Amino acid sequence: MHLLHIEGSPRKQRSASIDVAHAFIDAWKEGHADGTVDTLDVWTTDLPAFDGAALDAKYAGLTGQTRTPEQERAWDAIRALADRLFRADVIVVSVPMWNFGIPYRLKHLIDAVSQKDVLFSFDERGLTGLLGGRKVVVVAARGIALGPDYPAQDFDFQGAYMRMWCSMVGIKECHILAVEKTLYGPEADAESRSAARANAVTLAARL
Ligand SMILES: Cc1cc2nc3c(=O)[nH]c(=O)nc-3n(C[C@H](O)[C@H](O)[C@H](O)COP(=O)(O)O)c2cc1C
Repeated sequence: MHLLHIEGSPRKQRSASIDVAHAFIDAWKEGHADGTVDTLDVWTTDLPAFDGAALDAKYAGLTGQTRTPEQERAWDAIRALADRLFRADVIVVSVPMWNFGIPYRLKHLIDAVSQKDVLFSFDERGLTGLLGGRKVVVVAARGIALGPDYPAQDFDFQGAYMRMWCSMVGIKECHILAVEKTLYGPEADAESRSAARANAVTLAARL
């Protein structure tokens, strides 16, 4: 079994999403003695710019044209990133809420790898995701708590976006672990983190 951890927070030492993801991963490793873990930090990984040769490579693929060597190189970089997702049985994504959505570097990774004939196929029958069979665990950290003041249907573009992405790439099993109120000081933070960590350990025993 192989687990990929996509780190979406730049905070590292103080990150609530990475902290809870680590609780999940440590518990998962206990249940999978031979399991391997790959970490993809979107803040230190050289994500390919999606313009120029990469964009032309995408449209060459869509229109059935032969790619130039430069376009092939750009596409190879995208495939190499996507391969890290294909190798995983379980994908854990640490996702800070930023402006009620997700951080731009995580969106950059998703935009780079979510391509036709890479993570999905698309024809007259519609969209078919190619990552089926994998399990995704989204650790969604946010400063506020969703609820009456911030109703999820109006404010939660974080969970909604990650659920949509799972569905678009064919992943049916998408678990969301929330850690909320991370901006309300160490006490509230500690309480929400420990509750989320406990949920993470319980989930890890099932995956
Ligand atoms: C640029 C930025 C934007 C943020 N926007 C929101 C927001 O819209 N809603 C919210 O609840 N928290 C927001 N926060 C707070 C973070 O979601 C919170 O600190 C969370 O714990 C971040 O995850 P991390 O601890 O894993 O880095 C924002 C933080 C930053 C740095």
